[in-house]
Amino acid sequence: MHSGPEEIAEGVRRLHAGRLVAFPTETVYGLGADARSESAVAGVFRAKGRPAGNPLIVHVSDAAMAETVVAGWTPEADALARAFWPGPLTIVLPRAPWVPNNVTARGDTVGVRCPDHSLTLALINAFGAPLVGPSANRSGRVSPTTADHVREGFDPDLVFVVDGGPCTGGIESTVVDLSEGQPRILRPGLITGEQIGHVLGREVGRAGASQERSEKGVLRSPGLLEQHYAPVTKAVLVSRDELPAFRAKSARLVVITQAVQGLMASEGDIVLPRDVHGYAAGLYAALREADAKAGGQGLIAIVRPEFAGADSNSRGIAEAIMDRLGRATAP
Ligand code: TXA
Ligand code: MG
Repeated sequence: MHSGPEEIAEGVRRLHAGRLVAFPTETVYGLGADARSESAVAGVFRAKGRPAGNPLIVHVSDAAMAETVVAGWTPEADALARAFWPGPLTIVLPRAPWVPNNVTARGDTVGVRCPDHSLTLALINAFGAPLVGPSANRSGRVSPTTADHVREGFDPDLVFVVDGGPCTGGIESTVVDLSEGQPRILRPGLITGEQIGHVLGREVGRAGASQERSEKGVLRSPGLLEQHYAPVTKAVLVSRDELPAFRAKSARLVVITQAVQGLMASEGDIVLPRDVHGYAAGLYAALREADAKAGGQGLIAIVRPEFAGADSNSRGIAEAIMDRLGRATAP
C-alpha cells in the first residue's frame, strides 16, 4: 500500500524528533534525516555503517530551497535545475556555512538534488527544511528500489518507511560538480553528460573511477570507489559466448540476462528488458533476487547487456548502467 497523508505526518513527526525516515524517489529510496541536525545526520551514518568520509546529498523541494543550502547559486546551476528538476540530477556547489560538517564529510562542497516523487516533495514541504538522503541500504550494498528492500535492511523502529511504490528510474542520480572550473560528471546516471553540456553550452568532463582511485588523497567523490552497489554473492560480468562454460562449471549459478538473449535463457534465469530505461529500472531488484537465489554461496553471472536504441541518450544511460555493473562485479 502506498503511503498517504497520515504516513507523511508521521514522517514529519519523526524528522522533528531527529529520527530516520526512508523516502521514495524516481531513482532509489533515500534514508532521510533533518539536514540541519548534526546528530540526526550522525544517525544516518550509524544506521548505514557508512564511512564518515563519504558525503551525503541534501534533498530539497525546489531551487529556492537549494539556494539556501549552497554558498553561491550560479546561473549554470539554475539552468540545470530548470531543465532537470525535479529529477535525477545532483548538483555539487560550495556549501552554505550552516550545513553540518558530517553532511559534507568536512568538505567545502555540498550536493543538492530535488527528487521527482510527489510523496517526498510533500514530505520535504511539510517538514519545511531539506533532508539528507543517501540510498537507503547498508553501506556498500545494493540500493533499494522498493519499500520492501528498505525494510529488509533496517529495523522498523529505527527507520520509518514512506512507501511510494517501486522506483521508476532504478539507478542513482547523475552527480555533476559545478564547484570548479569545468563542470564534471562525478557519477553517471539517467541524465547524461551530453544533456548537461547541451544546457550549459559547454563541454562537460567525466571523472573516471580509475582516476579517483589513483588520486586517493584528493578523492572527489568517494561514491566513485568501486565495490559499491555490490550483491553479497560474488558476481561476474560475462559475454554471451562465455555463459555456457559458466553454466557447465558452476553448481549454484544465477544468470541475469536480457529478453533479447532469451534464446539461451534457462529456467530460473532473471530476465531484464532490452531498453536502457527498463534495464535500469529492474537492475537492482534483479541483483537482490539473484542474491537471494544464490544464497551467498553460488555465483551470479550477468550477461553483458546489449541495448536496443543507438541514440546518444541511450548510449549515455548505457554508460551509467555499465558503471553500476562494473561496481557490482568488482573483485
Ligand atoms: O539518486 C540518488 O542520488 C539517491 C536518492 C536517494 O536521491 N541518493 C544517493 O545517495 O544515491 P548516496 O549517498 O548513496 O550517493 C551519493 C553520492 C556518493 O557517491 C557521494 O560520494 C556523492 O554522491 N557526493 C555527495 N556529496 C558530494 C560532494 N559534496 N562532492 C562530491 N560527491 C558527493
Ligand atoms: Mg548509495
